[in-house]
Amino acid sequence: MSRIDPHSFADDAQPRVRRLDLDVDLDFDRRVLSGEAVLTLAGAGEGPLDLDTKGLAIRTVATEGGTAVPFELADEEPILGRRLRLTLPSGTRRVAIRYETSPEAVALQWLDPAQTAGGAHPFLYSQCQAIHARTLIPLQDTPAIRVTYGAALTVPDPLSAVMSAGPAGDRPGPRPGTRTFLFEMPQPIPSYLFALAAGRLAARDLSPRARVHAEPEVVETAAREFAGVEEMIRTAERLFGPYPWERYDLLVLPPSFPYGGMENPRMTFLTPTVITGDRSLVDVVAHELAHSWTGNLVTNATMEHFWLNEGATTWAERRILEALHGEETAVLSWAIGETALKLAFERFGVDSPLTKLRTDLKGVDPDDAFSSIPYEKGSRFFALLERAAGRERFDRFVGDYIDRFRFTSITSEAFLAFLDERLPGLSASVRAGEWLSATGMPSNAPVFRSTRLEELTGLAARFADGTRPDPAAVARWTPSETLVYLQHVPRPLPGAACAGLESLFGFLGQGNHELLVEGLTIAAASDWEPAFVRIRDVLLSVGRMKYLRPLFKALGGHPRTRALAREIYAAARPRYHALSRRVVESTLAAYPT
Ligand code: BES
Ligand code: ZN
Repeated sequence: MSRIDPHSFADDAQPRVRRLDLDVDLDFDRRVLSGEAVLTLAGAGEGPLDLDTKGLAIRTVATEGGTAVPFELADEEPILGRRLRLTLPSGTRRVAIRYETSPEAVALQWLDPAQTAGGAHPFLYSQCQAIHARTLIPLQDTPAIRVTYGAALTVPDPLSAVMSAGPAGDRPGPRPGTRTFLFEMPQPIPSYLFALAAGRLAARDLSPRARVHAEPEVVETAAREFAGVEEMIRTAERLFGPYPWERYDLLVLPPSFPYGGMENPRMTFLTPTVITGDRSLVDVVAHELAHSWTGNLVTNATMEHFWLNEGATTWAERRILEALHGEETAVLSWAIGETALKLAFERFGVDSPLTKLRTDLKGVDPDDAFSSIPYEKGSRFFALLERAAGRERFDRFVGDYIDRFRFTSITSEAFLAFLDERLPGLSASVRAGEWLSATGMPSNAPVFRSTRLEELTGLAARFADGTRPDPAAVARWTPSETLVYLQHVPRPLPGAACAGLESLFGFLGQGNHELLVEGLTIAAASDWEPAFVRIRDVLLSVGRMKYLRPLFKALGGHPRTRALAREIYAAARPRYHALSRRVVESTLAAYPT
């Protein structure tokens, strides 16, 4: 008997669940999901079956024939939650678990009407990655195990429900004033890709296989922003093979969504902050779409191999961007990633074990280990392999890799073994072992350069001696160029320099949140009061952790900005997702006292 994942109670010696059938009621008043999960095993099982749960109240467990199945909930473990051990009678193929979630389930955010664009109806969405599916459903919550699923979600009128699955119709619910939405997911997915949302939703077709869902108030601007998605899917298909999930839909969530995007299969979940009016942040969509191959088809066996997901996907995202917009755009994207990588090394320290690609996460919460390192160090490792092999050969390798491991979950070691099999000698020539197991950045990391990039960083480096870009030129810069420049501007700055940046870039009025937040971060670090109102607005409306962390961190430099941060957080806290709260609280806790 042995555990297969440091973040799960799933046990090798026990039966594997192969299919899940979920029938639950979404109770917006009590903020719980209640109903039944039927687990179908890969073969007839007997004896112990250990499942992951967190905060779940288990009512009854029974076999298909209605025989009660003995069960026992172990004591709560801080990261993992509670092991639910079923003792299956011999010959068990299916078990039905009646249960209820807790109002504190981390995977769910229940929004008041005031937190939505429409303001009239509540909204619910889930976020299961990395290990929060267990707060929703009793299951083997490890990416090493994949399940197909069917689901029936009952919601109050006039809400509708969507899932990371194919819609299979809807019918009147079991009680007046409710409706049940049905779903079927024929492709096996790891538990972290299970996803649902419910609210007042509308949809617009973007192509025969792509549609955007959003609140009615948002759906038209969303459809305009994402009009190019079919072209993006085709570009990705040319690189990575036919799109394997039939449909690619998008769901634009309310602004408290803690991530930029989440690659839920068939339906990417997105922060509304990617809608800028000029399509300048659709790289988030390129990233989530790329996960359809690198991640959703071939995923990490455990979170210790997370770089396989995010590193491969970040590399793939930039290949899509390059194919769509040219090499210069891709180089700027690598440069923006470089800044994120530097900040992550600063946050953990270059010697931290969390800067390894292949991590040891026993006793570590994956949410605490999360950083840009698997993304940026991982994608640089892929780029190094690409350069060493030559693009054509490497692209063939990536295609073979995806084919060989489709619908499975793999380790770093399995990746390296396949690399050695297909491109013998390559891993040794790039010192793959060091890339995976050493902290910090290997000396043979690929460098991404262009004349344009040097101009922008050179210009920013001369900021300190008073050099400013020409306003007429700045007006022609792309958002990525502006972001690269701003990221390289030193901070803190004197008030006059902040005012100068504002008059050049108008960041206070920016609709592009990457630029807005970078500008506000400079202002916050500089204790520049004219930005405080806008900082408050952003922190009160947006829950994306990528923005909260640097902004709250930058507010830590002065007594006045620290007071501002604490006051804003007190007001914003009830609106933030539980994950966002944790990030902000740890940032505030690191303030000097
Ligand atoms: N899968 C991630 C988001 C995630 C990672 C959620 C780990 C929970 C745990 C998603 O694909 C992602 O990387 N999103 C990025 C987008 C960016 C890299 C373009 C984000 O949210 O910032
Ligand atoms: Zn990702």
